[in-house]
Amino acid sequence: MFSHILVTCCIVFAIINPTLADIYLHNPRGSNNRHNEKTRQRSTPTLNFDSQNNERGGYNVGDDGAIYYYANSILPIQWTNQHSCNDVNSDCTLLLQYTCGDTLRDGQSTAKIPVTVQGEANETYRLTEDLASYLHCRVRSRNKNLYTADQGLKDSSISTRQNPGGTQNGYECPEERDYYPYWQPTNWIDIAILTNRQDLCSYYRENSQNVQSRFACTFENKDDLIQADKLKIIIPITREQCQAFNDSRLNGVKPRWIEYPSHNQPAPECYSPSYTRENHLGDIAGSDMPVFNWTLPNISAKKCVLRIRYNISTGDYDGWNTSSRSDVYIMKDLFANESVADKRGYRFKTNPEIQLFDSLNLTLKLAINTQQYGRVFQDRSYTFEIRQRPAEFQDRPIYNLNVRGRRGNIVQVYPALEYDFVPNRLEIPPNSYVHIQWIGSNTTPPGAGQGKAEIDRNNLLLLTNRVRFLAHKYRVYQ
Ligand SMILES: *[C@@H]1O[C@H](CO)[C@@H](O)[C@H](O)[C@H]1NC(C)=O
Ligand SMILES: *[C@@H]1O[C@H](CO)[C@@H](O)[C@H](O)[C@H]1NC(C)=O
Ligand SMILES: *[C@@H]1O[C@H](CO)[C@@H](O)[C@H](O)[C@H]1NC(C)=O
Ligand SMILES: *[C@@H]1O[C@H](CO)[C@@H](O)[C@H](O)[C@H]1NC(C)=O
Ligand SMILES: *[C@@H]1O[C@H](CO)[C@@H](O)[C@H](O)[C@H]1NC(C)=O
Ligand SMILES: *[C@@H]1O[C@H](CO)[C@@H](O)[C@H](O)[C@H]1NC(C)=O
Ligand SMILES: *[C@@H]1O[C@H](CO)[C@@H](O)[C@H](O)[C@H]1NC(C)=O
Ligand SMILES: *[C@@H]1O[C@H](CO)[C@@H](O)[C@H](O)[C@H]1NC(C)=O
Repeated sequence: MFSHILVTCCIVFAIINPTLADIYLHNPRGSNNRHNEKTRQRSTPTLNFDSQNNERGGYNVGDDGAIYYYANSILPIQWTNQHSCNDVNSDCTLLLQYTCGDTLRDGQSTAKIPVTVQGEANETYRLTEDLASYLHCRVRSRNKNLYTADQGLKDSSISTRQNPGGTQNGYECPEERDYYPYWQPTNWIDIAILTNRQDLCSYYRENSQNVQSRFACTFENKDDLIQADKLKIIIPITREQCQAFNDSRLNGVKPRWIEYPSHNQPAPECYSPSYTRENHLGDIAGSDMPVFNWTLPNISAKKCVLRIRYNISTGDYDGWNTSSRSDVYIMKDLFANESVADKRGYRFKTNPEIQLFDSLNLTLKLAINTQQYGRVFQDRSYTFEIRQRPAEFQDRPIYNLNVRGRRGNIVQVYPALEYDFVPNRLEIPPNSYVHIQWIGSNTTPPGAGQGKAEIDRNNLLLLTNRVRFLAHKYRVYQ
């Protein structure tokens, strides 16, 4: 019995360890909120989005132009995730999305965009969501049915269990970030949902904004929105309350209940991710790292961004069936009922003191942060272009062949990677094309790797035959 309890404790500790939890995008290069800093630590963790990742992850912005992909070409999206997927200990959901827009930009510095009209227009700052979407997030009520544990939240949807203080991360809406499918309109178009919860796939596909419109209480005029935000007004999220809403400080200006059309895209793919083990940023069993082969949309867009989120939920409570009215206990399967769990202190709250044995007055404090128990991590690419194919390449497959990693050895660059090709081996059908390109930074952290320091550089060498080359090398060493 004792060892059983110990084992259970250890699993809990492993799941909630706050400093070791991550998702990193490796192809296309994920920023993890870096820009061009030469330090291993990123300078501005809140630059553009809330990653909740380790400060050392990510790649610097590419110098000299941007990557472009041809419409309908095949791009292997690769990442590493740290808390396992398709394993028994937790629910894992990976969400892949993209957005395109003429105003999107990588920015020019590590300075975070201010929440002002001037900030939105200023090329210095990275921009992937617009100001209006952030202000709407800030002026509207959060969804008060959501489970918040013992976190004290503000009224606005910038305040969530994972971000109770409403910390600003670029123009990302914290509630939109933490929950999917989101009930408010967003500009993110769904690509795929990889989840061990296959029973939720039809729900996800039916409720994706790709196929379903959204309704929202909205100030259509941007000046009214700015004014409401300035006055710290909070507007409701239901139709009845929206239509009845009238704040005298706005002198008769009222928000309207508006339908936002769907993105009119195919429903996202939804299937099980490959198994990855816990506390490991690496490959899937018997293969390279986790990959999703994305067939790019047939559009023409100068600026697009790819986003990956990693939702890792503890098995200790059912996140989908838990609301603000729920009482949540930890390890509750060990007890006859909830009142026993309650008496022994097994309530899900910050650092609870639990009484390990029924008849012995011995308490242990658990290190639990209720912000992080059931948690979403994120990474985003830099901007890339999607280009129409030249006439002569219209109807044949195009495979993207890229380079991942940054200068240095694995210890110097971790949790980024050493250089490699993506995919590492590519076998293509006859009459296909390969689109080979890579991008790098001239400000990688110093002191890593050989050659000219602080730069990414890569080469391609043709081999006549991989097998013969290896055999030859083998003979030399004999
Ligand atoms: C943009 O922001 C930078 C950094 O705050 C500032 O130096 C610059 O004057 C701003 N540019 C404009 C056009 O406002
Ligand atoms: C993450 O999972 C929880 C359920 O555990 C769900 O309520 C939430 O919407 C999910 N968030 C995202 C971004 O997938
Ligand atoms: C809304 O508020 C304005 C100003 O406070 C007031 O003049 C108006 O009669 C109100 N309208 C409704 C429908 O309550
Ligand atoms: C992705 O594409 C590569 C190269 O064509 C292929 O080897 C691999 O099996 C594909 N993986 C998945 C998960 O579709
Ligand atoms: C992609 O779109 C272009 C322009 O609209 C069209 O000419 C072409 O046939 C489309 N290609 C495919 C494969 O759908
Ligand atoms: C909520 O709980 C019910 C009853 O246990 C279960 O059937 C259902 O699948 C749960 N819903 C989700 C989304 O997990
Ligand atoms: C809970 O379990 C305990 C111990 O088995 C029992 O004494 C108590 O009556 C139960 N309480 C409820 C509400 O079922
Ligand atoms: C358990 O021990 C603590 C500290 O020694 C004491 O304060 C507390 O009153 C004890 N509780 C019971 C139920 O005996």
